[in-house]
Amino acid sequence: MTTPTMIDLFAGAGGMTVGFADEGFVPVLAVEWDRFAAATYAANWGEDHIIPGDITAVKRREIPRADLVIGGPPCQGFSNLGLKALDDPRNQLWREYMRFINTAKPKVFVIENVDRFSKSPEFDMLVNEVDHGLLRQYELSHGVLNAADYGVGQRRRRTIVIGSRVGKIELPAPTHARGGASGLRPWRTVREVIGELATRLDSTELPASKTVFFGEPMPGAFKGPDIHFGRNPRPFSLERYSYVPPGGGRFNVPTELLPRCWREKPTGTTDVMGRMRWDFPSHTIRTEFFKPEKGAYLHPQWVEARQQPGEKGSRFIKGDPQLSVNRVITHYEASLLQDFPHDYLWVGSKTAIAKQIGNAVPSGLARAIACQVKPFMG
Ligand SMILES: C[S@@+](CC[C@H](N)C(=O)[O-])C[C@H]1O[C@@H](n2cnc3c(N)ncnc32)[C@H](O)[C@@H]1O
Repeated sequence: MTTPTMIDLFAGAGGMTVGFADEGFVPVLAVEWDRFAAATYAANWGEDHIIPGDITAVKRREIPRADLVIGGPPCQGFSNLGLKALDDPRNQLWREYMRFINTAKPKVFVIENVDRFSKSPEFDMLVNEVDHGLLRQYELSHGVLNAADYGVGQRRRRTIVIGSRVGKIELPAPTHARGGASGLRPWRTVREVIGELATRLDSTELPASKTVFFGEPMPGAFKGPDIHFGRNPRPFSLERYSYVPPGGGRFNVPTELLPRCWREKPTGTTDVMGRMRWDFPSHTIRTEFFKPEKGAYLHPQWVEARQQPGEKGSRFIKGDPQLSVNRVITHYEASLLQDFPHDYLWVGSKTAIAKQIGNAVPSGLARAIACQVKPFMG
């Protein structure tokens, strides 16, 4: 078998590329319009084959033939039901996608999208193109996969679609399960992923280094330890976090310490201000993982403070300030929970890098799909 080639569309920082490259696929083109994300991709995979621009501006002659196309257009939303036509102006990115498939003529394409993707008009449109339209040669498999079931230390549910014109390709079977059920390996835990990293942090800033990408100096390229920095939360915020035990969230914080919007919303959004558990995979890492009010992003190290003699029991137990780590996870920790390699390089501001991390497909999930697809590359 010759080395299979791939094109990564909407490539982001290249999370999906990591998994496929691990299985021997060679990237020949990537497209990404966020210049920092494109630069991160370039820092790790080379600047020679990434187009740092809008996919709609890529010329036909710039699209090579490839064995595989990975990455799918971001979903526009789920409210505009009934909007299924490929020629609708709002479906421009899907038209672009079809253009790439028709030009690169891959044997296989793999789309990753949000878990509700199969309920979206975009999905209906895709199926319609396979049944009657531009993708008639392809057979589809699709389903919602949880990254934790493929050895990633994070519960992240994503729709995966595999389209193949070289025989139907089933989705990969899980290799891991909660508690090691069904004879599978147990879910990878937060401890296995970030347990070895320093919990005390030396800096709250990125180093001042710059590198030129696409002719423009950009912050970076940063190594893992460079993005292992802390934040400067207000004492009031620290007080809030201190009440949250592993697996807990905003309901563990005394009411008087909560912002009004949460006090007035007594149910729902249970994972906000959440703390991870050492011996469980994390919740989904999103683009604002550095804000505890956005999810379960507090570091799992928390030891209950001993009560003082004579002190009455309280519903709100605090963490011991000496033995607990009262902060959110760092960018480095988030990148590892998203299954990026330790030596991955990062380009951009703090928020730009967080966006790249939160948007990525964990490489373990991509690797499992790559393993499934590879035998069809023949
Ligand atoms: C979900 S992220 C992709 C993550 C990537 N597959 C990974 O694993 O790291 C989607 C990406 O599409 C990019 N994007 C959205 N619209 C685009 C366009 N018109 N042209 C190029 N890139 C676009 C966004 O900047 C974003 O980085």
